[in-house]
Amino acid sequence: MWYFVLNSNCLLDNSGQQIEVHSVPLAIFRLQGKLYAFQAYCPHRMGRLGVVGLLDHPYLICSLHNWKFELQTGKNLQTSDHLRTYPIRESENQIWVQLEI
Ligand code: FES
Repeated sequence: MWYFVLNSNCLLDNSGQQIEVHSVPLAIFRLQGKLYAFQAYCPHRMGRLGVVGLLDHPYLICSLHNWKFELQTGKNLQTSDHLRTYPIRESENQIWVQLEI
């Protein structure tokens, strides 16, 4: 089911946010106009990716210890601790994510 996350103008290009949607913590990003949604916490030591995540297309880098993830898939380039990704879309100036809750 799709859930409203926030208004489009609250997520500028090349930025991220830590947000909770129906008790599901998420890290969402916009880079080069494209949206991405991940689990909120880095699998290494629980860094809050929406806060400490750096965007370097095509990667998301956790700035705490520099683990690197593919933006498109959440694949971790160092270990098999990948990020969970969520479908995300924008419609009529609103951002929505698809959650199974
Ligand atoms: S907490 Fe993210 S790399 Fe260590």
